Amino acid sequence: MITQFHYGTPVETFAVVEQVPLCDHEQLRHFTRKKGSPQSFSCQLGEDDIIYGLGETMRGINKRGARYISFNYDDPHHKDDMPSMYGAHNFFVVDGETAFGAFFDTPAKVVFDMDSRGDGVLSVSCESQDLRLYVVEGENAYDVVRQFLHVIGQSFLPPLWAFGYGQSRWGYKTERDVSRVIAKHEEKGIPLDYVCLDIDYMDRYIDFTINKRRFPDLAGYTAGLKEKGIHLVPIVDAGIKIEPGNRVYDEGVRSGFFCKNHEGTDFQAEVWPGMTHFPDFLREEVRTWFGEQYRIYTDCGLEGFWNDMNEPAIFSTEYRAKGTKPDVERGDPDQPERHIADFKDFFHRLDDGREKSNYEVHNLFGAMMTRASGEGLDRLLDKRYLLFSRSSYIGAHRYGGIWTGDNASTWEMLRQNVYHMPSLNMCGFLYTGADTGGFGGNSNRELLLRWLAVSVFTPLMRNHSAIFTKNQECYRFRQPEDFRTLVSLRYRLLPYLYSEFMKAALRRNMYIKPLAFDYPEDGKAREIEDQLMVGESVMIAPILEQGAKGRIVYLPEPMTEVRYGSDGFTCINVGAGERTVMAPLNQVVFYIRQGKLVPVGKPAANTAELDLLDVELLGTGSVYEQYVDDGSTKRCGLEHCVIRRREA
Ligand code: GLC
Repeated sequence: MITQFHYGTPVETFAVVEQVPLCDHEQLRHFTRKKGSPQSFSCQLGEDDIIYGLGETMRGINKRGARYISFNYDDPHHKDDMPSMYGAHNFFVVDGETAFGAFFDTPAKVVFDMDSRGDGVLSVSCESQDLRLYVVEGENAYDVVRQFLHVIGQSFLPPLWAFGYGQSRWGYKTERDVSRVIAKHEEKGIPLDYVCLDIDYMDRYIDFTINKRRFPDLAGYTAGLKEKGIHLVPIVDAGIKIEPGNRVYDEGVRSGFFCKNHEGTDFQAEVWPGMTHFPDFLREEVRTWFGEQYRIYTDCGLEGFWNDMNEPAIFSTEYRAKGTKPDVERGDPDQPERHIADFKDFFHRLDDGREKSNYEVHNLFGAMMTRASGEGLDRLLDKRYLLFSRSSYIGAHRYGGIWTGDNASTWEMLRQNVYHMPSLNMCGFLYTGADTGGFGGNSNRELLLRWLAVSVFTPLMRNHSAIFTKNQECYRFRQPEDFRTLVSLRYRLLPYLYSEFMKAALRRNMYIKPLAFDYPEDGKAREIEDQLMVGESVMIAPILEQGAKGRIVYLPEPMTEVRYGSDGFTCINVGAGERTVMAPLNQVVFYIRQGKLVPVGKPAANTAELDLLDVELLGTGSVYEQYVDDGSTKRCGLEHCVIRRREA
């Protein structure tokens, strides 16, 4: 059961799309509200209560024992004590004797103190007086999450090719660079579906331009690659370069589409192209206009995009010189050196007529950019497209996926990738993944192989790294055939992974879950954070330690242990309980639940080659409901499911 409570005059966030009954304040259960600035909501936790949710935040799957802040920010130092990342996902579930969830629907800053003092107090402080609070009651945590996923609406459905392997790097500049990357994958037999184009494809980093010297005929090039089954995925940043003659700039200024400064003129902030204006994405007419700009890409045959720098990231502003420390909101130990002041320096005009500083509606900026692009692409294309963004807010999951930003090539970040997946799924973000191999710092053979073994199961599987770091394309390392094996596992599993993703999205369910969601009565499963359920049949137990040759795996029930290596799949049935499993770097071990099946396909060089129906069934089950479509139709529905039976 879901109920909502209104305080003040909430800003429209578009997060919830289904009807939810509105209650009087006196009917609020679970929380005690304290008026003031900020207003706070608190409750007492039971000794063993687990707190799930909060999407893209640091630390483990159980969020208890720390403070988290929803205030979208571009900070590559993804340490456990970092209070906020790029997204604001204000939904959590308290799971104990009873289970309830809460969604604090406000685009302003929210501080979640999840029993950081160890006195059992959970408190949520909302900076704004205007908010909607949704309270969800259910049988258990999973039930609460499913009810929540129902009211926030169906997750974005990417095309099949977006589930292929993608290669990306900040530093690919020219058509030749991209062609070389593709040729190398072909040469080493490593499957590939897309290559991302980072900011260097543009003319001086100006959005909606193409550097003609580097890509003389992008349309022709794109068409040629598509014939080989390869897509290009350009980046689009939030800021529009200030440059008279830049059509998008001229139109935006003329139409009054940019955010304003204190003086009422267009606010200026420095990002990659130099000084830019920020489109006022919170207004519908601005979103429509911005979405239309993607036509220059779709006219070239492009069908996939990543939106970036949309927290928004700011290097300097007209009020703050480059290199100077931004004004620090002193006295807030959780936000040292955050650019709080910058966000108080520009303003949005909401569709309801109110004017708000970005600081007051901050967490919606990136989400509304995603919405603008998603709605635009929907109008421009008659098929599904790939779209993922760095910044987000719940609701944006209906328009695109997200990636978890500028991580680093460390084992800690690999573990974080594992923790993020279920938490993001609880908040609607099903199409997601991390920069495989790590963005900052230098990756190495072992880390990349172990990371690929995790990414095989995440919907977005993209190897991305920063300029000035060591190149980390699979073919750069010794024995590239080991990388081929791991990436090819992804393609062999796609009949299952794609099917599970599509069914989860269409049923408003999760694709990746914590073990406890499938085994709520199993005390041990409730504690485990480094094993995950992927779809209805699979459990993964990835190796996340440097130098480890194996690990201990906990099986809540008897399962089929599947090992994939250069000679394909081998299966053995194993009993419940703890088990030590060895896995060399060039093998992946995963598990199939008792009585379940996994359809696996033939090896393929990319998804265009893949036949989703030509499968063999692994596991001890007898029936599997497989979602199959042409990979691009907009008419997706459960009627696309076929029933597969294992022959006796
Ligand atoms: C940001 C993005 C990163 C990208 C870089 C250059 O740091 O998060 O993925 O490579 O900008 O565009």
